[in-house]
Amino acid sequence: MTKSTVYKNAPSAKKAAKKGGHKCLVSRRNFLIGTGATTATVWVTLNAGTADAKKVPAQITTYPRKLIGKVSALKQDKPLDFSYPDEGSYSDCMVVKLGVEAGGGVGKDKDIVAYNYACTHQGNSLSGSYKADTKSLGACSLHLSTYDLTRHGILISGQAYQSLPQILLEVEGDNIYATGVFGLIFGRADNLQS
Ligand code: FES
Repeated sequence: MTKSTVYKNAPSAKKAAKKGGHKCLVSRRNFLIGTGATTATVWVTLNAGTADAKKVPAQITTYPRKLIGKVSALKQDKPLDFSYPDEGSYSDCMVVKLGVEAGGGVGKDKDIVAYNYACTHQGNSLSGSYKADTKSLGACSLHLSTYDLTRHGILISGQAYQSLPQILLEVEGDNIYATGVFGLIFGRADNLQS
């Protein structure tokens, strides 16, 4: 038996997005790598070093591919809410068409992005705090953290010190799918365990 690893999203990773004007923007390839959005079968050794040692296949858990909306239904600067990667704690997210090209943006104008709503400082919900003029989420009602949605959720101001987790998106026809998370969701040691 041989080791087998399958990277489902590898073909799309080859399509590197054009870099924006900001130096902190990462390429789509690096964005995809950062999400860990892969499906893999690995071989692990049970009872290593003993006569009973044997290799068995183990499946690594992967992010779900979830339909979260339609491109045609999005209105510029009007966020739509959804849950991802599950329905558990701190899973509230939003998708928005910014009207300007953004890091990790999808759609023909690369301006559709999605983010988790939980402030990375202490988990307060940022729902309802989207600002169209600055393309940002915040200020958080607890300690004023504000995040730039055009630059992978980087912190603009406030008490937090981590970027807002960005939801990896794919567009297929008119459908928008969430396929991964870039960054750790507040309150979780693992994004796939709520
Ligand atoms: S919880 Fe948002 S800034 Fe503290």
